[in-house]
Amino acid sequence: MNKNGEENHGISADQLVGLLIEMEQAAREEIKASSQPKDLLRIEYLGSKSEFARLSHEIQHVPKTDKARVGILINQVKQSIEGFIENTANRRLTVDNLQRFDITLPGIQPPQGHLHIVTQAIMEITRIFERIGFTRVRYPEVDWDYYAFEALNMPADHPARDEWETFLVTPPWKGTNKDKRFTSIVLTPHTSNGQVREMEKGTMPIRMINIAKCYRRQSDVSHTEMFHQFEGLYVDKNVSIAHLKGVIEYFVRSFYGPKRTIRLRPFHFQFTEPSFEIDVTCGICLGRGCRLCKEGWLELGGAGMVHPNVLKAGNINTREFNGFAFGWGVERTFMMKSGTKIDDVRCIYGNDVRFLQQF
Ligand code: PHE
Repeated sequence: MNKNGEENHGISADQLVGLLIEMEQAAREEIKASSQPKDLLRIEYLGSKSEFARLSHEIQHVPKTDKARVGILINQVKQSIEGFIENTANRRLTVDNLQRFDITLPGIQPPQGHLHIVTQAIMEITRIFERIGFTRVRYPEVDWDYYAFEALNMPADHPARDEWETFLVTPPWKGTNKDKRFTSIVLTPHTSNGQVREMEKGTMPIRMINIAKCYRRQSDVSHTEMFHQFEGLYVDKNVSIAHLKGVIEYFVRSFYGPKRTIRLRPFHFQFTEPSFEIDVTCGICLGRGCRLCKEGWLELGGAGMVHPNVLKAGNINTREFNGFAFGWGVERTFMMKSGTKIDDVRCIYGNDVRFLQQF
């Protein structure tokens, strides 16, 4: 019994305070050195089996008059250890992170894409023709049969239509339009549908370059069902084959380089008279003949002097005006650049990045 009449188990308030402070010091040192996570540290230093818990229990043996003071201290010690565990663990995290994060390392480069080769080709073709006064226009890629065939001197049932392997949207016999020209719809099999549409604008002279998607029922190494064509149309007074040849030669030299040249080979289209196929000297052998081209020439596509019936369909006075037209595949024209070495046109639309990255 002490002087307050309480039983004493041999620990005074000051002793307990001393032990608590010592315990706190020791705990801080250990926590600082420990690599355990927060939750385990909390169990070890504040849990029911911890030194802190054991010492806290001793408060029951402290004289009544000191209990409040010691109680406050116990709470302070608890908060202090809790705070220390929290801060140390957080700092450890950031220090760890800092050590892992080497700001001098080069960053991870995001993959950088580029325009698709067909887009690149379309932009280059457009630029080349713009320099000689042609303007790029666009006409529907799903269009009336009238513009794709009929206005181009190919009336319904004309056998020449078969060449174009056309996808029909509405069959001719289903059309309900009162205007008999506009009864059936096709996926345009060539960009020539833009010819009469351009003439209908009624402004002269015409210098258009129409680049658009085309569709044909064909798929093999040199055909995809969807492809692109660019169509040139020049209508003015006194246009001659020499003009046609000059423009094509200019294009071929600009696009393929000054060493390449062209030849006109007689051909037949319903909408041009006379008609030609344009050949370009092979980029590999420059006309001498090799495995790729056989006789030194690669075929670019069709061209010719616009047929009077087409001009008439476009309300153009054929005694005053005449013109030439040409229409070639964008993919094919691009593949004929020497160095592309694309041997299957379907690769262009295979969406394999390893292929597309090369251009
Ligand atoms: N439209 C033709 C084709 O698809 C090409 C062409 C265009 C021919 C213009 C002559 C004049 O093959």
